[in-house]
Amino acid sequence: MNVLVIGANGQIGQIVVDKLKNHDAHDVVAGVRKEDQKKAFENKDIKSTFIDLEGSIEDMEKAMENVEAVVFSAGSGGDTGADKTMMIDFDGAVKSIEAAKNAGIKRYIIVSAVNADNREYWSYNNEEISIGGYYFAAKHYADVWLKNSGLDYTIIRPTLLLNEQGTGKAELAENVKQEGKKLEIAREDVANIIVASLDHDNTIGKSFDATGGEDDIDEAVKKL
Ligand SMILES: NC(=O)c1ccc[n+]([C@@H]2O[C@H](COP(=O)([O-])OP(=O)(O)OC[C@H]3O[C@@H](n4cnc5c(N)ncnc54)[C@H](OP(=O)(O)O)[C@@H]3O)[C@@H](O)[C@H]2O)c1
Repeated sequence: MNVLVIGANGQIGQIVVDKLKNHDAHDVVAGVRKEDQKKAFENKDIKSTFIDLEGSIEDMEKAMENVEAVVFSAGSGGDTGADKTMMIDFDGAVKSIEAAKNAGIKRYIIVSAVNADNREYWSYNNEEISIGGYYFAAKHYADVWLKNSGLDYTIIRPTLLLNEQGTGKAELAENVKQEGKKLEIAREDVANIIVASLDHDNTIGKSFDATGGEDDIDEAVKKL
């Protein structure tokens, strides 16, 4: 499939792009928002296109020409406030879903976040949670929009992301339980889960948590 990665310059995005570039069954287009990022991908012989989640649906649709699947791994990041979270993580995601529908694309995989489906976790008063409840609400409603979109969706909810080498293993479950373990996962393993989800159509219509674990990722994805 020809896959557009939105947020391709991000930490997960870059790994996904590299993995798809070296994948026999897929082609990749890196979706970025800056000229120097576009050039950096082109220097690596990777196709790229401009896609700004604060831009119009029409412009996004143009960026999706000849695309068969969208991977959304963008995010406003922890240094911005609630306004950008709302406009990028929520409305940006929704606009890209609408653009995909308009462009006739069926397949859409989104990187959500653990507990985006668990409103109890969103409390503004819970001092253990450093991210505002608005972040989880934004991720949640983007997920809901995708579920109701009619697209062939997969929603991946990773736990805390780490910049360490992937293990090729993970625990995937509708809701992972802490049970004394640290809930964290290498960004590379999230990328592995995204690629495996593109490879295995049983992931269509599925939403699941993803954390570090002992199961081979390809096998775990096939069993979802
Ligand atoms: N951090 C965690 O522990 C955690 C846990 C669970 C889930 N997540 C989710 O994981 C996903 C990816 O994480 P990551 O670490 O790869 O994030 P990242 O490195 O911050 O990458 C985010 C990407 O989104 C892009 N972006 C921001 N605003 C944009 C806009 N208006 N239009 C287009 N692209 C835009 C950024 O572009 P630039 O490169 O141009 O800035 C960047 O490339 C996010 O959805 C995040 O919510 C994070």
